[in-house]
Parts: sequence; C-alpha cells; structure tokens
Amino acid sequence: MNTKVIAPSLLAADFANMQRDVEMVNQSDADWFHLDIMDGVFVPNISFGMPVVHAIAKHAKKTLDVHLMIIDPDRYIKTFAELGAHNLTVHYEACNHLHRTLQAIKAEGMKAGVALNPHTSINLLEDTIQDMDLVCVMSVNPGFGGQSFIENTYQKVNDLRNLIEKKNSKALIEIDGGVNASNAKKLIGAGADILVAGSFVFKSENPTNTIKNLKELIAQ
Ligand code: DX5
Ligand code: ZN
Repeated sequence: MNTKVIAPSLLAADFANMQRDVEMVNQSDADWFHLDIMDGVFVPNISFGMPVVHAIAKHAKKTLDVHLMIIDPDRYIKTFAELGAHNLTVHYEACNHLHRTLQAIKAEGMKAGVALNPHTSINLLEDTIQDMDLVCVMSVNPGFGGQSFIENTYQKVNDLRNLIEKKNSKALIEIDGGVNASNAKKLIGAGADILVAGSFVFKSENPTNTIKNLKELIAQ
C-alpha cells in the first residue's frame, strides 16, 4: 500500500450523536473507522458491543477496522464478519492458538490483524507474521482512550518493519494509542502504515480539520 491510513477511533466519539460522528468521518479525509471492542476482562473497561457495531455499520461508508480487546476472540469471528467488519484484529495475549485464529478470520473473508500490548515483544511474531494482514502495535496499555503515547513504540515499529521485510510478509503496521500531530510523522518514518487516533480527533475543536491535518502531515 502506498497511501498511509488515518483511522479515527469511535471510542472517543460522542455516543449520543454517533450517527453525526460517523457521517463526519464519512465526509472527512479519513480512510478507515476504528472500532474498539472491550470486554471488561481482557482489559479493565467495557466499551460497546454488537448492536452498536451494527448501528455504526449501517451508516459507515469506509473500511471497518475492528479491534477486539476480548478474551477467547474465536467465539465472535463469524459474528463480526456478519456485522460487516473488514479487518478483525485480535490480541496476541488473548489467543492460545493464534495461527488457527488468523486462518479462521481469513476464512470469513476478513483481513486478519494481531495487536501487541506494550509489554509483548515483536519477536513472538517470527513464526506467524506471514499469516497476518496487519499488526497493531499498542502505543498505550489497551482499555482507555486519551492516554499518553509510549515512546518505546518507535523502536518497536522499526524492529517490526525489519521483521516484516526479513520474512517477506505483507503485513501493514498500525499504531494505536496516543497518536497526535506531534508523533504522527515520526511514526510513519519509523515504518507505520496506519495511525489510529481517538481523542486527538474527536476532542478537537474541528475534527474534520484535525483529520485533514493528520493526513497532510503523513502524506509522502
Ligand atoms: C485503546 C484503544 C484505542 C483508543 C485510542 O485501548 O484501542 O483505539 O481508542 O484512543 P486515543 O487516540 O485517545 O489514545
Ligand atoms: Zn483500538
């Protein structure tokens, strides 16, 4: 992929005005919608579930990038495919049989992603990187929006880019957590393809302009 992707996270949207915020993203320069599903077990927070994803999918006109922060995600692969997810990302730490999970996601016609918590080494992907369409590097501990970006992420992205090249994988690198105008360009420089941005977009005065500025910042 040549074009770098901005994926606003609806976790930071105004849930009482979800349709308005979905339309804003539709009309904006953003490329994807990022949807955060939390179960209160894998992460200490509960976000939203299937009925909300269904409602969002009815209005969303761009790629639905679904990030599952749940234990035992295999249980819901089919459900999210039916809901219209294009990308389904599971956590490395939540899968006992990651290879099998990735195949199951692809068998449902979705792109398969793996997210890594800040403490999880990219070296653990050595044997599966070729089976992934996307690696989501968590640049905060998952569970909440609005946290500060962890600086070690740049090094991790660099190392991951090298691993992807070494293994001849086609996986894209996504960064999730604390992304803003101060770190976006450096992240792309380190090898990222996709930047998720929640608070920085939705808590800004003009989210449409914020997305436009981010896109311009990372244009190559
Ligand atoms: C965190 C979620 C993120 C979150 C990012 O657990 O996975 O997608 O919405 O929010 P910000 O951009 O506010 O850090
Ligand atoms: Zn996320």
